[in-house]
Amino acid sequence: MSDATRVFLIDDDAELLRATGQTLELAGFEAALFTSARDALSRLDAGFEGVIVSDIRMPGLDGLELFERIRDLDAELPVILMTGHGDIPMAVKAIQDGVYDFIAKPFATDRLLQCIRRAAEKRRLTMENRRLRLAAAEGGAGPQLLGQTPVMVRLRQTLKQIADTDVDVLVTGETGSGKEVVANLLHQWGRRRQGHFVALNCGALPEQIIESELFGHEPGAFTGAQKKRVGRIEHADGGTLFLDEIESMPMATQVRMLRVLEMREVAPLGTNDIRPVDLRVVAAAKVDLGDAGQRASFREDLYYRLNVVSLSIPPLRERRDDVVLLFHYFCEKAARRFSRDVPVVSDAVTRYLADHHWPGNVRELSHFAERVTLGLEPVPASIQGSGGAQTERGGDGALSLPERVDAHEAEIIRETLTSFAGNVQQTIAALKIPRKTFYDKLQRHGIVRSDYAER
Ligand SMILES: Nc1ncnc2c1ncn2[C@@H]1O[C@H](COP(=O)(O)OP(=O)(O)OP(=O)(O)O)[C@@H](O)[C@H]1O
Ligand SMILES: [Mg+2]
Repeated sequence: MSDATRVFLIDDDAELLRATGQTLELAGFEAALFTSARDALSRLDAGFEGVIVSDIRMPGLDGLELFERIRDLDAELPVILMTGHGDIPMAVKAIQDGVYDFIAKPFATDRLLQCIRRAAEKRRLTMENRRLRLAAAEGGAGPQLLGQTPVMVRLRQTLKQIADTDVDVLVTGETGSGKEVVANLLHQWGRRRQGHFVALNCGALPEQIIESELFGHEPGAFTGAQKKRVGRIEHADGGTLFLDEIESMPMATQVRMLRVLEMREVAPLGTNDIRPVDLRVVAAAKVDLGDAGQRASFREDLYYRLNVVSLSIPPLRERRDDVVLLFHYFCEKAARRFSRDVPVVSDAVTRYLADHHWPGNVRELSHFAERVTLGLEPVPASIQGSGGAQTERGGDGALSLPERVDAHEAEIIRETLTSFAGNVQQTIAALKIPRKTFYDKLQRHGIVRSDYAER
């Protein structure tokens, strides 16, 4: 995403302009040189992803006038002004008016570069925030797969490339990592978006129900089948069938499913009918089905049939650079949903974002952002250092032993809840603590049990 930062450099002194331009290029910026402010202005728009550096005293439009025009265009675009006359009162006034910074000529190269770098970083953040706000505003418009880490950028590219093809896709990733988002995008970005996106969780249902859900049945096909039922496979005709937790699909169903994938036809239970179907199958698994050990009772032939294109979404802890970006996105979204202000991010939250292991991946992060937005997240209470005498922190900002123990305790509870999908009985059994203690601890750490429950 981040190519060289663009810098518009404006100075009527052509000699100095060229020299400064060279310095910027050497420092890795992409400099566009102008001897007239008007020319520069005609090439600018509100979405300019860079920084303006301009001389003040110039014939025609001068630097201050240029700044005013730019401010009308985009008040957040950083403008750095240079002057050869060390006019301090004017500089002060200009900065009050919103000029980003002011540099007196002759300037030290380092000072100029430093100033541009800071301005560029500010611009980058401004633009990123705008994109996030836009994305949040469009939140209802469909699923989002955000992320600027190389692996996420590549994943989006791959999705775009294969969305329009009919190839079946296997998506692997830990809980909450975005498998359903990926499946959704394959549907939305492809020509099948007119058809239905039909999802079925193969892990949640007993065998008989899965079969009649998937394949449909005629009345009387089995005990209890009173009415005819159109199966999900047929329902997805022309669209996409999303088979979630495919690793839990019962053996018998796997055999029937293999036939659907190979022949592109479906036979509802209790009929001799064979109906052609035109669908794309996206399957999701939490385990690596390519590993015979993890595959357990999953048929190899079905695995190979599904594995034509296989996408793996890395856990959030392996793409840490996306954590802050996603956190801001979810805060924006939550703020709109709950009509709250976007929260100011405390040091404790920042540290938590950086250090946490995120066993629940993006879903856990989104719940965390919601709690922070609602002011419910004490992160863990002790880290904030507001919990009384035992949470004294040394002057170096390091956590005390009780704080670390406390943070560790919260982490263990979160992980255990995650492993048991929020089941209290199993969680307290594993933690070997009384129910009352468990609930007390949840409250103290600001952990919301239902966040860990399966949908
Ligand atoms: N890259 C992302 N950008 C924005 N939102 C995301 C991203 N990845 C996941 N999410 C959001 O996180 C939540 C969990 O994602 P999703 O349901 O796709 O996970 P999953 O892999 O299917 O998890 P599970 O295995 O538990 O079903 C959803 O609310 C989803 O919108
Ligand atoms: Mg899912």
